[in-house]
Amino acid sequence: MKKIIIDGGQEISGTIKISGAKNSIVALIPASILTSGKCVIKNVPDISDVRILLEIMRELGSEITFENETIIIDNGNVKNKEITEEFASKLRASYYFMGSLIGKFHKVDIACPGGCVIGSRPIDIHLDSFKKMGIEIDEQQSKFVMTVDELKGNHFYLNFPSVGATINIMIASTLAKGQTIIENAAKEPEIANVASFLNSMGAKIFGAGTSKIIIDGVDELYDGFVEVIPDRIEAGTYLIIGSLLGNNLTIENIIESHIESMLYKLKEAGIKYESKGNSITITAAKNLKPINIKTTVYPGFPTDLGQPMSTLLTQCEGECLFEETIYENRLRHIPHLNSMGANIKVFDNQALILGKTPLHGKKVKATDLRAGASMLVAGLIADGRTEIYNIEHLLRGYERIVDKLSQVGVQIKLVEDEENI
Ligand code: UD1
Repeated sequence: MKKIIIDGGQEISGTIKISGAKNSIVALIPASILTSGKCVIKNVPDISDVRILLEIMRELGSEITFENETIIIDNGNVKNKEITEEFASKLRASYYFMGSLIGKFHKVDIACPGGCVIGSRPIDIHLDSFKKMGIEIDEQQSKFVMTVDELKGNHFYLNFPSVGATINIMIASTLAKGQTIIENAAKEPEIANVASFLNSMGAKIFGAGTSKIIIDGVDELYDGFVEVIPDRIEAGTYLIIGSLLGNNLTIENIIESHIESMLYKLKEAGIKYESKGNSITITAAKNLKPINIKTTVYPGFPTDLGQPMSTLLTQCEGECLFEETIYENRLRHIPHLNSMGANIKVFDNQALILGKTPLHGKKVKATDLRAGASMLVAGLIADGRTEIYNIEHLLRGYERIVDKLSQVGVQIKLVEDEENI
């Protein structure tokens, strides 16, 4: 077990560079299965989800090198094998192997995907769409066996613009017969990143990043190349930290248009920042105005930034309303924030945050990945020492977070600890 120890309250200055997006790379790696050619993926974050996916790929026979933020994948010898629970349950994104293995081999045998416990997280939209493409799905107790003779394109209207389902349909339909149209598709930037990778291999995908995506199936794919876009959630997390403790903290490698909703909210709270090229320099504001946050699909305020943002709301002068609309179970971090001195009342998926409240160092727990980010921000602004347990969750999504924060003046260390709370 690992925990992070933070001695809070320090001013932060210097430069932090944002890594490649977790939610892109976890789709790009499985998507590469579609081609037997060589794939080069640049700007890859070294996070545990990537390591797990590479392990799964190697189990399937893929030859991979990972050096200098670049992964080179040779899938010439990939075989279609069962992806067992041992691997699939370690991360949610293992569901992208459904799309890529069915696309390539017309058969998949995979255990249920894992992931953070932030709601029921069904995959019915993925499965219904696969069925419409002619795929037979045998849902067994803890795994799925899928088979199809001929994959056929179809016209889909998604009940909800699911990120995972949009990407999975795109991957599965790349080598399908005929045309696929996805209406009410998710528009997150990671979707366009995956489409540009598939297109570099020879796929014909149009409109990714908008709510209507058209995929003209092709017979064959070749070598692929892509650069992972900067992680907008990591960027948003460091912007929150900069808003609370920054003294000319520069955050590099940001695509500003990807985090517009976040920047808008920071401005509304009275935070000033300066943008130059692909970097933003931010300094903490003295008196934060109260703001309301409602998470929603892109380009709205991202659910993945809701939890770290809720920590910032505890420092606003007045009443803030925070509402989570994507997941049912994303407020489990609130009792931990309250234990540190916050004054937050939860009603279903809404939280009323009364501030400003000083926070005090405590032993707390990262109940999921982004809850870990919330606790981290809390620990940074709290007086005294904060110890965050279950920190493995946080390390799944933030590359070298302890190094990056140490370099800008934070007293933080990662230690092994047998104790749990
Ligand atoms: C992705 C991101 C995750 C982010 C989320 C929303 C990855 C690996 N993860 O997750 O970080 O929080 O987008 O931006 O990219 N749903 C269904 N049925 C389905 C699929 C989804 O009911 O078949 C529901 C989910 O339970 C959830 C909502 O739709 O309530 C959003 O899910 P979705 O957009 O699919 O998120 P993920 O792809 O799982």
